[in-house]
Amino acid sequence: MRIAVVGSGYVGLVTGACFADLGHEVVLVDNDEQRVEALRKGEVPIHERFLPELLTRHRGGRIKFSGDLQAATRASEAIFIAVGTPPTESGDADMSYVESVAREISGAVDEYKVIVEKSTVPVYTNDWIRTIITRNGTDPELFDVASNPEFLREGTAVTDFLYPDRIVVGAESERAAELMCQIYSPLTSGWYYGRADAIPRPEKAQVSPPRLIVTSAQSAEIIKHASNAFLAMKISFVNAVASICESVGANVEQVCDGIGADSRIGPRFLKPGIGYGGSCFPKDLMAFRAVATESGYDFRLLEEVIRINEDQRRRFLRKVRSVLWTLRGKRLGVLGLAFKGGTDDIRESPALLLVQELLREGCKVCAYDPAAMERAKEALGNGAEFAADAYQAAKGADAVLILTEWEEFAALDLERLRGVVKYPIVLDGRNLYDPAAMTAHGFSYYSVGRPPALSEPAAARSAKREHA
Ligand code: UGA
Repeated sequence: MRIAVVGSGYVGLVTGACFADLGHEVVLVDNDEQRVEALRKGEVPIHERFLPELLTRHRGGRIKFSGDLQAATRASEAIFIAVGTPPTESGDADMSYVESVAREISGAVDEYKVIVEKSTVPVYTNDWIRTIITRNGTDPELFDVASNPEFLREGTAVTDFLYPDRIVVGAESERAAELMCQIYSPLTSGWYYGRADAIPRPEKAQVSPPRLIVTSAQSAEIIKHASNAFLAMKISFVNAVASICESVGANVEQVCDGIGADSRIGPRFLKPGIGYGGSCFPKDLMAFRAVATESGYDFRLLEEVIRINEDQRRRFLRKVRSVLWTLRGKRLGVLGLAFKGGTDDIRESPALLLVQELLREGCKVCAYDPAAMERAKEALGNGAEFAADAYQAAKGADAVLILTEWEEFAALDLERLRGVVKYPIVLDGRNLYDPAAMTAHGFSYYSVGRPPALSEPAAARSAKREHA
C-alpha cells in the first residue's frame, strides 16, 4: 500500500521504516528541511536498535523522504500523523501541530483516504481532525479518520512494532477499518514472521501473530492513555512496596517474584528503582488526568502515581546522604544519564534530575552513559565531568551511583571497579546486582527495597554502633 507518515520524530521514523519492511511504499514527510536532507543522506537521528538497518534496507526504494505534505497525501492511501503533542503549562497536550497537519492535508484529499492519528492524543482528537479537514473544504465522503495508537518503547521500538502484543485500530467506518487491517496484514497473517530477512523475534515476544483489535475512535484514544497510566501505576505501586520493604527488612525482588508469578498481575513493569521518566509516562499521565478532569472525573489516583514517582527520587537522594553523611565536595561516579537503558533520550530522566540535585548539593559528579552523554552535556553544561567509561567515572569516587538500567552496568568487572574507587560504596538505583556478589567483592551495597549489604569492615562498624 502507499502510505505517508507525517513527522520524522521517534514514532514517525520507526513507523515509516517498519511499514517499508512490511512491503509498503512509504513517504516520510517532515517540514524540517535539514532533517529531511540528513535522512536522505543516510543519517539516523535517534539511537534505536535495528532502525539503521531498516533505513539502509529501504532508503531510496520503499522509503522516501519529503518536505511536501500535499504531494505525499495525494500519492497515498493512508496518511499517518506522527507529529509531536508536547504538554502545555496546564498539563494537557498541545494539539497545534496535529491541527496544522490536518489543515494542510485537507487541500490534497482528491480520492478516498484514511487519515490516521498515530501521535499520543487526547480523546476526541479524531473528531477534531475530521472537523478541521471538512472545515477546510474537503468532501467528508472522501476520507475517514482512524486512531492507531502506538505502544513502542524507546530502545526496543522496532521489535515492539514488528512483534506487538496487539494492534489497536479505532475506526468509525468499515472501509477505514478494512484498509487498516490490510496495512497490518503482513503481521496479523504471520507472513512477515516467515521471512528469512525478518528482524529477529525478541525473546519475550509472543509467538502467535498479533491480534488486531478494532474499536471506536474514542476507545482507541483512551486505550493509549489508560495503558501508559496503568504501566506507570504498576511502577509506582512497586516503588511504594519497595519503601515498605526497606522499613521492615523485606526484599522487594523476592516480593515482586511472588507478586508477578500471579498471571493476573504478571512480572513485567514491576522493577523498582528511582522512578519512571521519559517523554511518555510523565506527559501522558498529566494529559490523561486533564482529560479525566475535563470529562468530570476527578482521577486522583493518577496524582498519587506521580507523587510516588517524584518521592522515589527524593528517597534515593536521602539514601545517598545517609550513606555519605555530608554531600558537599563528595566525588560521585555516576553510571547512567538516560531515562532508561538502550536509549540516548534524557527527557524527564530521573537519573539526570538526580544528578542536577546532587550538583546543587555541592557534589562533584563524574558521569558516564553509553549513549546519552552528548545530550546530557548540553543539559548539565560545565556542572559535571564526563568519563569515557564506567571505570573512569568511578575513579577516586567516594561512592558509585547506578542510575540507569544499561545492560553493561549490570556486567561490570567488580574487581576492576573495586580497584579504582576511593571507597567501595555502591548505591544502585536500579537493583542491577545481587547484594551478596557485591559484598563478596568488598563493596557496601545499597539498592532499592532491599536490606543494605555491607562489606565486612562496614558491617563491623555498623554492629558496633548498634551495640553501643
Ligand atoms: C512507554 C510505554 O512502555 C510504551 O508502551 C509506549 O508506547 C511509550 O511509553 C509511548 O507512549 O510512546 P517508554 O517511555 O519508551 O515507553 O519507556 P518504558 O520502557 O515504558 O520505561 C519508562 C520508564 O519507566 C523508564 O524510566 C524506566 O526506567 C521505568 N521503568 C520501567 C521502571 O522504573 N520499572 C519498570 O519495571 C519498567
